[in-house]
Amino acid sequence: MTIAPVQRPASNAWTDAKLILALEEVVETELDRHLKVAKEWMPHEFVPWSQGRDFDGVLGGEAWSIEQSKITPLGRISLVVNLLTEDNLPSYHHEIATMFGREGAWGTWVHRWTAEEGRHGIAIRDYLLATRAVDPVELERARMAHMSEGFESDNAHSMLQSVAYVAFQELATRISHRNTGHFAGDPLCDQLLAKIANDENLHMVFYRNLLKAALELAPDQAMRAIADVVTNFRMPGHGMPGFERSAVQIAVGGVYNLRIHHDDVLQPVLRHLKVMEIDGLGPEGAKAQEELGVFLDGLNAQAVRFDERQAALLARRAANAARK
Ligand SMILES: [Fe+2]
Ligand SMILES: [Fe+2]
Repeated sequence: MTIAPVQRPASNAWTDAKLILALEEVVETELDRHLKVAKEWMPHEFVPWSQGRDFDGVLGGEAWSIEQSKITPLGRISLVVNLLTEDNLPSYHHEIATMFGREGAWGTWVHRWTAEEGRHGIAIRDYLLATRAVDPVELERARMAHMSEGFESDNAHSMLQSVAYVAFQELATRISHRNTGHFAGDPLCDQLLAKIANDENLHMVFYRNLLKAALELAPDQAMRAIADVVTNFRMPGHGMPGFERSAVQIAVGGVYNLRIHHDDVLQPVLRHLKVMEIDGLGPEGAKAQEELGVFLDGLNAQAVRFDERQAALLARRAANAARK
C-alpha cells in the first residue's frame, strides 16, 4: 500500500482531524479496491418464500410455535444475537459518520458500508420469518428493547481506536455468521450466512488496511490504540436482552468463544499487520506493544482453560444423551 508522503510529526502530535486528512488517500484507494471486489447479491434469493404463511393477529393465520422451527436451538440463539447486532445499524452509522465525516472518500465509504450492512439485517429477518425459525413476537420485542438502548462504542473518543476496533470487530462478525451457518442445521441458512460473512470479510480488509497505514503514519499512537482495543474488546451485542445467557450457549456450542476470539480474530489481524514485530517504536509505543504481548499470552492461557471446560461439558452431555 502506498500512503501520502506526509511528514511524520513528533509522537502524539497526530490529532484525529490530522489523521483523517492524512488517511483520505488511503481511504480512496481502499474504497476503489472494495468496490471492484464486492459482488452484488440479492437477499431475496436466499429466502424460501414458498414456506411462508400468515401469522395470527391481523390476518388470522397460525400462531408461531417452536415445533415449526427447523433450525437447531444453537442456531436460533445465535441467529437472534447476530440479527439484533445488525439491527443496531443506525447507532453504528451515527458513530462512524460522526467520527469519519460524510464528505469525500470517507463519506462515500460510510454510506456504502451502511448500505451493505443494511442488507444483512433485511436478509436474516426475512429468512427467519418466512421459515418460522424463531418466535416473531419475542424477536420484535427484543429488537425494540435493544435499539431503544442505542449503542455507544467504547472507542468513540479516538479515531485510531475506532479503526482498530472495527478491524477486529468485522472479522469477529464474519466468524460469528459463518459458524452460525455451520451449526444452524439448514443448508440454505448456511449459504445466506456465508454471503453475509463474505461482506464482513471485505469490511475487515478495508479497516485492516487502513490500520496498516495508520501504523506507518503514527506508529506509537496506533500501537497504543491497538493495545487498548484488544485488551478491552467487547462485542457490540453486549447490551441486548439476555446477552450473557446467549453468549454462554454460543461459546459452548463453538460459534464464538475465547479460543475462536484469540485464534481466528485477534491473531490473524495482528499477524497480518506484523504488530508484534514492529520495531523502532518510541517509549509509549514500545510499552503498548509489551502490554499487548502480555495480554495475548494471558488470553491464550484462559482459552486453554476454556477448551478444557468445554470438552468436559460436551463429554458429559454426550454421556447423558447416550443414557437416555
Ligand atoms: Fe453485517
Ligand atoms: Fe460488516
